[in-house]
Amino acid sequence: MSLVTDAAALAQDLVEPLGRRWLHVQSVAARAEEVSTVVDEEDRPVLLAAAWLHDIGYAPTIGHSRFHPLDGGRYLRAEGWPARIVNLVVHHSGACFETAERGLSAELEVFPFEDTPVMDALVTADLTTGPSGERLTYDERIAEILERYSADDPVHRTWIKAAPILKVRGSHRGAQS
Ligand SMILES: [Fe+2]
Repeated sequence: MSLVTDAAALAQDLVEPLGRRWLHVQSVAARAEEVSTVVDEEDRPVLLAAAWLHDIGYAPTIGHSRFHPLDGGRYLRAEGWPARIVNLVVHHSGACFETAERGLSAELEVFPFEDTPVMDALVTADLTTGPSGERLTYDERIAEILERYSADDPVHRTWIKAAPILKVRGSHRGAQS
């Protein structure tokens, strides 16, 4: 089995029972495939595997910190997945902003941040896909997050700060659409 096939199978095991989040994950994987033209060919399986796995931390069977990027990454590390996949999952979609809000920055720092087009493509795929898998623009996706979480929620506070920064990064790389 290939890396991507293994990732899709694990994601299905862990995320399909969660309902609509499985629709989101399948669409993020499809979107990652679309934007994968911006990354080197040898990096494409890494991007696609990370896209399949990015939200496994929502599975209650593996969650401990209740911060899904960290929970997902720790699980993958324990299961022996390649470090790049682990680190992409841990840091996806501005995780560092939310760990700052939640007081979890030290836990995140043990995982290196990959500052590459692969990370930007992963973030773009996630942030142009809605919670039920619908295609959204970046601005629509941020508006949807801010509406879904109340103003005193750490997620809401995170995206007030992170949205303009991640938007600039995406457009800088040319991966935004
Ligand atoms: Fe996601």
